[in-house]
Amino acid sequence: MRFDGKVALVTGGAKGIGRATAEAFSREGASVVIADIDDVAGAMVAAALPRARYVHTDVARITDAERAVRQTVDAFGGLDILFSNAGIQVYGKIEDVTEEHVERAMGINFKGHVWMCKYAVPQMRARGGGAIVCTSSIQALATQTMVPVYAASKAATLALVKGIAMDYALENIRVNAILPASVDTPMLRNAAKAISPDGADELIAQWGRMHPIGRVITMDEVARLVLFLCSDDAAAITGGEYIIDGGLMARLPLVMPD
Ligand SMILES: NC(=O)c1ccc[n+]([C@@H]2O[C@H](COP(=O)([O-])OP(=O)(O)OC[C@H]3O[C@@H](n4cnc5c(N)ncnc54)[C@H](O)[C@@H]3O)[C@@H](O)[C@H]2O)c1
Repeated sequence: MRFDGKVALVTGGAKGIGRATAEAFSREGASVVIADIDDVAGAMVAAALPRARYVHTDVARITDAERAVRQTVDAFGGLDILFSNAGIQVYGKIEDVTEEHVERAMGINFKGHVWMCKYAVPQMRARGGGAIVCTSSIQALATQTMVPVYAASKAATLALVKGIAMDYALENIRVNAILPASVDTPMLRNAAKAISPDGADELIAQWGRMHPIGRVITMDEVARLVLFLCSDDAAAITGGEYIIDGGLMARLPLVMPD
């Protein structure tokens, strides 16, 4: 019960990594607000948890971010933890991207963190401190074909996290980034289904074999990292980037003969 009496706001909490993390915070005693655009799934997740609310929030909209924080404070008296996690995957080579494509990707994946942190920080100051974790991706460090704008949005998130961490370190507000590789979530499953409608499971298993641990990462494994970073055990950790990738970034694409 590391988060007994704490209040956590989770964006993108209706599904995937956000949902698993919201549920984990709740299991450890936190009051939880789920901020998402999927009203049906978000309300269902909140309804299944004690001391939980759902707030419709498009993180790309500054007014929605302000409302999510305000409704969290109204419901539970303050805010201690922000898991700023909502994000979308966008594909396309640079010559094919549209203004809408870029606005959407940067609006959700980058500005979403800006707006959520902007309104969370004053509330954390009022509590004497707090913890923020933003979801980046290993795509911020090394990438693949067809995702330049997504990768850039995730790299911008890393720089933002470090900058915010510097501004509030003396106020006991810690800010860290997580950088997952492939995590088995609806996002990953949708990507697999788009490529191979009848073979999504095998494709995900194949992606898993590319990771040194031989499998993709689970949502619960990511949730455990986020909870650690938001716990008192991480009191000296801020401005950090935490890779959770089953060893992928450490691997050189060289194979020794057996
Ligand atoms: N799944 C992976 O392999 C993987 C790897 C690296 C990073 N990530 C990142 O992790 C985060 C969560 O991804 P996931 O795999 O759980 O995705 P997901 O699609 O399974 O869940 C994302 C959630 O965010 C919500 N969302 C989308 N747009 C939103 C908006 N504008 N405002 C508020 N909520 C919004 C969705 O409704 C959904 O509930 C994202 O930032 C993603 O980029 C995922």
